[in-house]
Amino acid sequence: MPADPRNNPEPTPAVSVAEHLRDLSEAALRDLDQANRLRPLRTVQPEGRIIHDEGRGLLNLASNDYLGLSQHRKLIEAATDATQRFGVGAGASRLVSGTQPIHQQAEHRFAAFKHAEAALLLATGYTANLAVLTTLAGPDDLVVMDKLVHASLIDAARISDAQVRTFPHLNLERAEQLLARHTTGRRFLVTDSVFSMDGDCADLPAMCDLADRHGASLILDEAHGTGVLGPDGSGLAFAQGVAQRVYTCGTGGVVISTASKALGGLGGIITAAKPIIEMIINKARPFIYSTAVPPGQAAAISAALDVIRDEPQRRHRLAELSDQVRKPLTERGWPITGNAYPTPIIPLVAGDEADALRLAKSLHAQGFFAPAIRPPTVAPGQSRVRLSLRSDLKDDDIARLLGVVGKPGSGA
Ligand SMILES: Cc1ncc(COP(=O)(O)O)c(C=O)c1O
Repeated sequence: MPADPRNNPEPTPAVSVAEHLRDLSEAALRDLDQANRLRPLRTVQPEGRIIHDEGRGLLNLASNDYLGLSQHRKLIEAATDATQRFGVGAGASRLVSGTQPIHQQAEHRFAAFKHAEAALLLATGYTANLAVLTTLAGPDDLVVMDKLVHASLIDAARISDAQVRTFPHLNLERAEQLLARHTTGRRFLVTDSVFSMDGDCADLPAMCDLADRHGASLILDEAHGTGVLGPDGSGLAFAQGVAQRVYTCGTGGVVISTASKALGGLGGIITAAKPIIEMIINKARPFIYSTAVPPGQAAAISAALDVIRDEPQRRHRLAELSDQVRKPLTERGWPITGNAYPTPIIPLVAGDEADALRLAKSLHAQGFFAPAIRPPTVAPGQSRVRLSLRSDLKDDDIARLLGVVGKPGSGA
């Protein structure tokens, strides 16, 4: 009789897998450190425009909380109230028992804010991007995207198994050539509205034209435009007069936003035509197999939309600050692009990793918190300090900042 394998467990290997992984990890960390690419976690405490770092209060130029809403009284009250009434967690995925009126309310509000037929709330902007591209694109399809789109769109395109092609940043002639080559399957034209590391903007009317000419779908990530640009803070598509067209151009478009930037909280929101949203509900694995956003967070999203509507002065102040910083730094020779739109993201491209670390360290010593951004987040040689402005900065803060940031190469 053959031996029962359950009575005969495999011998423990001489070198445990855990030890092996530890060695590999330590070696990888040493390599990263040598290349100036090691990224330790820093424990800090943000408090409005100030961030406390090891006992020092620095000016926070590193967060995406552009309007200061993460600490807005109305959002905190809405989140607290919903948490007290409905609990800290949603309890299940949206399709099982996780959908509550508070989720639907946030979605209805967001669809109206974005002039869309329907909206869908997911855990984060990252998962929303995964949900969109993995549902809509497949192996026969072509995804053409700007080289500088957010990592989540790159990952989403890869997981979709579509053919992926990138075009040089903002180069729509090249995008057109790539779209023209594909003869079978669907085509997707993918872009950020405001580019997260450069703060410049896509030309959406031209991209809608391109989608029309090639029967492509526009996939637009409005993470950094939402709450910031457009007459009502609804995003770049509104600022550029294509709020409806992004959904209808070519073979129909989709917009992704996140509550994690100007809305001050957390949660990815997809807006699109109703059947597209229903298809994502039915097919998107990041939606189906993940727990719903906590009620408090959904309530904070609706409250953020109220504040964006009722306190436009925050958005106007942010635009003013953007001009106040962009103009002088451009005149000093910093290669800051995209000055046509007053986005709060202003890159100080320093060069290699060590250059960016030096600049960030010098700014830190002088009271400014704005860490170095290095590969793989940006291309080699493009390491930078990414200044991200917030509406509660004071004129004196800007004067102080401009007092310490010299010309490129002169340090800070
Ligand atoms: C352009 C862009 N899209 C998506 C995301 C992901 O959003 P979230 O932080 O909500 O996952 C980010 C976040 O940095 C982003 O910059």
